[in-house]
Amino acid sequence: MKPGLNSWEAMWAPYDEATYAFVLSQIRPDDVVLDIGAGDLRLARRMAAVARRVVAWEMQAGTLPEDALPGNLHVVCTDARIQAVPDGVTVAVLLMRHCTHYALYIEKLRAAGCRRLITNTRWGMGVEVVDLGPGEPFAATTGGWYACRRCGAVGFAGEDAVALTAETIDRVTDVEGCPRCAASNAP
Ligand SMILES: C[S@@+](CC[C@H](N)C(=O)[O-])C[C@H]1O[C@@H](n2cnc3c(N)ncnc32)[C@H](O)[C@@H]1O
Repeated sequence: MKPGLNSWEAMWAPYDEATYAFVLSQIRPDDVVLDIGAGDLRLARRMAAVARRVVAWEMQAGTLPEDALPGNLHVVCTDARIQAVPDGVTVAVLLMRHCTHYALYIEKLRAAGCRRLITNTRWGMGVEVVDLGPGEPFAATTGGWYACRRCGAVGFAGEDAVALTAETIDRVTDVEGCPRCAASNAP
């Protein structure tokens, strides 16, 4: 296994059809997609049938098929932590529930101008679209569930659970600069 990856993160496993169907529903014909950790390319091939171009990164050569690929699917056997994000990527897909490098991937995607991420990493379940623009400053949140755009941490802010109502209990605020960000920036 590559250094710095935990064994779950390095493992190839497919996801269920509902997850793939959601991802495909978010892909637009003019998208240039970056599939981070593409496994055996089963989703990348389907995205290539919809999108303008798909770039698929997978570090385990053994999972990559050897048969012919669609002309708009470009596969790179590489470590996503060090590979440069290609120009023009409009949306990234990170289906990796055990990912421990979310903050690094966000930093690279933002620097490359990518503004949408489809992922199951933040919550470790389900799949969501994350706007990669700046989140609300964590300090400004008034309480309730939060998910950090920068580092991927999720949690519950504030202690006044009594103030929650049926309408606000399920609300999630996309923040930036959460307690985990602050801890990791600490000297
Ligand atoms: C849970 S599998 C998901 C595969 C694919 N996205 C799918 O949904 O069918 C995660 C994949 O990410 C790959 N992976 C994990 N870390 C990686 C990295 N740093 N660079 C490239 N691939 C990575 C693993 O090898 C594995 O194949």
